[in-house]
Amino acid sequence: MSQDIFQLISQAQQIGCNLEKANISAEGGLHIHPAYLAKILCLTVAESVEENQNLNNLLNDIHTETTPNERKFLLSFFKRIWDGQDNVLEIGPFLGGSTRAIALGMMLNPNKKNLARVYTYDRFGKYHKPEELLHFLAPMFERGILGETEKQFILKNNSFLEVFDIIHRQFEYYRMIVPQRAILNDIPPGQDSDNEASFRFEQDQVTPFNLPEELTYSAVFVDGCKSWYGTKQFMQITLPKTSKGCYYIFQDYGTHTCFWLPVFLQVFNKYFKLVAFVDHTYTFELVEELSQETISKNFPDSPADIPRSEYELLFKKLQASAINFNDTYSVLNYQLQYAGLLGYLGYRDEARSLIVKQLNSPFALTHRQWILRALEWSTYDSQGNNIDLFLPKEI
Ligand SMILES: C[S@@+](CC[C@H](N)C(=O)[O-])C[C@H]1O[C@@H](n2cnc3c(N)ncnc32)[C@H](O)[C@@H]1O
Repeated sequence: MSQDIFQLISQAQQIGCNLEKANISAEGGLHIHPAYLAKILCLTVAESVEENQNLNNLLNDIHTETTPNERKFLLSFFKRIWDGQDNVLEIGPFLGGSTRAIALGMMLNPNKKNLARVYTYDRFGKYHKPEELLHFLAPMFERGILGETEKQFILKNNSFLEVFDIIHRQFEYYRMIVPQRAILNDIPPGQDSDNEASFRFEQDQVTPFNLPEELTYSAVFVDGCKSWYGTKQFMQITLPKTSKGCYYIFQDYGTHTCFWLPVFLQVFNKYFKLVAFVDHTYTFELVEELSQETISKNFPDSPADIPRSEYELLFKKLQASAINFNDTYSVLNYQLQYAGLLGYLGYRDEARSLIVKQLNSPFALTHRQWILRALEWSTYDSQGNNIDLFLPKEI
């Protein structure tokens, strides 16, 4: 791309941001806006060829479970759209691919206040097997960023907070990152069979997820809400620390397994406005304050506590909204998520048929692998176990 094109895209990005800030998408019924905004933001991350290349190299340097477009979007979003006035909260950084994109964007944001930080929370351990983690980190070992001490540490402790620190501390942006080890309960306390189940991956003492009294946030990136109850708990703890106008960016919203995220956002749809979507990442603005009590009243601790007829309606509304937003991917994905939910609730035959039906639809022309994946791995329970659609319930 020539320099002229970079400048043109930069102007288009600015126009997209101005439209977003003017709230014109809601006022004028501009339904193409969320798709446009995300796509224009991830087209380039800098105004010059060289800077764009340098930033992309950094964004692609760490093993990550986000897509390249999602990381480019995060960088541009925090550079151009985030207000810079308050802190950023992240749950689920893993090795920090997303954290780096966020922090680089924050650094480039001309309105960033000096004290703004990204507070990033994770279990920081026992996510992948140690051997797998070492495999993901192989390029860092080859380049000498990590050595034998770290290898032995990972094999012994299966922890990656120390590695996270080593990967990022050499960069200027790291002064803005505050990593914290914490665990989000995936199982409601009352349903723990052995009281330890919420912390099932931990032998050591780990802090349950909570947020400090004195801090507030103007953007939240969510990539660690891997259960229905974890999502509920996270939102109940986080919402009181954010105000109207805060952005909530859900990486897993478009992952076929994570039905709890679209369900949560649809149950509370009058509180959240869709702002942008790219790949699996969906960004919403909090447009009305949502209290803990409202969540308690309307979102039970377990998916089994909502009648099936309500889910049917909920997913129909989600699909209608995806059609309005020209979001073809979600039109398919909501069906896969609905199938995942059915499987989770025990309707495995129906779930399987619904997924197989997608294989005979036009969606299979472009998303065949995604559909096949849903057939094999429809969703997982709060212990992380696959809901296998090919086994009768009692086996
Ligand atoms: C999909 S990965 C995140 C990927 C990351 N954002 C990236 O850029 O590559 C999910 C992360 O969430 C964390 N996580 C999952 N469940 C959690 C829980 N209940 N409490 C705390 N962290 C959790 C995992 O340890 C893992 O690091």
